[in-house]
Parts: sequence; C-alpha cells; structure tokens
Amino acid sequence: MDLTAWRYEDGIAAFRKEADAASGEEDWARLKNAYLSKKNGLVTSLLAGLREVSRELKPRLGKEINQFKKEVEATLKERAKVAPKRKAAGLDLTLPGMAPRPGSLHPLTLTLDDMLKWFTQMGYDISDGPEIETTFYNFEALNTPEDHPAREDADTFYIDDNRLLRTQTSGCQIRYMQTHTPPFRMVAPGKVFRRDDDATHSPMFHQLEGLVVGENISFGHLKGTLEAFARAMFGEEVTIRLRPSYFPFTEPSAEVDVTCVFCGNEPCRVCKGTGWIEILGSGMVDPNVFEAVGYDPDKYTGFAFGMGIERISMLRMQVPHIRYYFNNDRRFLDRFKVG
Ligand code: DAH
Repeated sequence: MDLTAWRYEDGIAAFRKEADAASGEEDWARLKNAYLSKKNGLVTSLLAGLREVSRELKPRLGKEINQFKKEVEATLKERAKVAPKRKAAGLDLTLPGMAPRPGSLHPLTLTLDDMLKWFTQMGYDISDGPEIETTFYNFEALNTPEDHPAREDADTFYIDDNRLLRTQTSGCQIRYMQTHTPPFRMVAPGKVFRRDDDATHSPMFHQLEGLVVGENISFGHLKGTLEAFARAMFGEEVTIRLRPSYFPFTEPSAEVDVTCVFCGNEPCRVCKGTGWIEILGSGMVDPNVFEAVGYDPDKYTGFAFGMGIERISMLRMQVPHIRYYFNNDRRFLDRFKVG
C-alpha cells in the first residue's frame, strides 16, 4: 500500500464515522475484519506499507499508524464487551426451572448405621484399621502361617511380598488388642478386597468385625450376643443356629445361620428351601492369637465374629444382586429415601 497520501486525521475520522454508524453484531464483525484482519485488514496493510516509505517520512508515519492501530483496537475491544452474546439471545425466561433432586443415605450406610447403633448400645467401642494391610496383621498374627490355604494368591490382591489389600477386617482385632487392655468389646467396620465377582460377591465389599475379650468370656456369651443381634437386625421372630466350622483364628469356630425371613409356606429361592440363611462367621479366640499380641491365654478368653455388611443389608432390604450397591442407579437408591 502506498502511504504517501495517507493522513492520520483522515484515517481515524473515517473509522470513527463507520464505528458510529455500526449498529448490530454483524456490523462490528465486518469492521473488525476490515481493520484488524491479519491477512488484509487496513492496519496490517498500513504496517506493511510502512516498510516501503522513505526515511524522512518513516518516523512520523510510524507514530501515526501506531496511534491509529491503538484507537481502532481499543474501540473494537470495548464494543465486544458491551455487544450482547449471541447465545444469550436464545435465553427463554419462561421455561420451567430444574427441580433439585435431593440425595438420600445409601442402603449400605443405613444398614451399617443400624448395626453400629445396636453395638454401641451394647457397650461396644467402634474401631478400624488400614485398607492396605501387612501380611502380619492380615494373616500371621491371626494364626494363618505362610503355608496356609487361606493365603493362596488366588483371592488376595498383593501389593508386594509384605503388603496387600486386606481380605478381611479381622486384622483390626490385632491392632485393637495391641493398643487396649481387656476387658473390652469392639466392632470394626471397613472395606475388604478379594478376587471374586458374581451375584453375591464383589471384588470390594464391606465387613463388620467384632471382638470381645475378658476373663470369663464363654461360648454362651457368643451365642447370646449373636442371637440378640440377629433379632435386632431381622425381627424378634427369627432364631439362629450355629454350625461347626473352621477359621484359623478361632477355636472352636461356628458359622451362624438365621431362620429365613423370606420363606412363606412355599420353599424359597433365597434359602434354597432349607429355611436357613448364613449370616456370619464366629468363634472363640484361638490362644495363638492372644500370644501374638502378648496377652496371657491362661488369663483371658474371648469371642470374635465377622460378617459381610452388604449381605446383611441385602437380606434386610431384599436386594437380589450385590452390584446394586455399587452402580449408583438413582432408581435403586431412591427406594431408600426417607420422607
Ligand atoms: N474373617 C472371616 C472372613 O472374612 C470372618 C470371621 C470369621 C471373622 C470368624 C471372625 C471370626 O472374627 O471369629 O470370612
């Protein structure tokens, strides 16, 4: 562009005139393009032309073009701020608002709260432990030596040789005993992890551990406690039965069943027609476990129990598949809304 005839006063006057006349968004976009487009906008052409002018003219023209550029930019920028955004033009204030959808406590939380409330009323302390556990707390101290089948890699998520995702909350018993002196009662809820996945098993689920230690704790205490617990959870009409079982950290050990809460007069799918449903594992604390934490096994006895919280919850709330607990489907969660 030949700048010999270009005058700042004329240039800026022309621009101001155009800017004053501009009324809509389209005008402003066109102006912006005409003056500031990098490719062929006037300011770009002026700056390119500046390279061609004589040495005498350059300082004055340079200054003027710069000033011209500044004013054009400032005007267009200011305009962009006040110009209404295209999107806002579509705002319809008469549309109905979005109703808030309040949340509710998760069914697992509801079940756990009920369980903890009951145990607290019975004088139990609430404790916990880490989800990443050492093999000592998850196995060794629980009388489960290295060659024990329960330590098979098949269902344990190992992190390294000494650390794993805990497969049970039973390690919380050891941690509690290391830091407390009998007599005591405690429960410890928490997440556990196993390589397991079907209608009633999930790789992560929750357990509640219980431990009672004192000088004359007997199997009768275990049975009475678990019967009262089962009635609190499933109704006064249920009874329990104990089946001999095996756990490394209890001797003797028992699995506890409750009378099926689903059976009417017909054989039922949940208990497979047996009339009984297993709810937990339990037993008298093995003396080896007391030795591992430095308790005198001749002085103290105790009972322990452990149960799956989802399992208790599924039975109480008649939920057919454990996956419902982790999918967070609103249609399922809304069933448990209170109020
Ligand atoms: N830890 C056992 C499991 O995960 C459950 C269990 C059984 C816990 C007996 C106990 C117990 O405290 O005494 O299957």
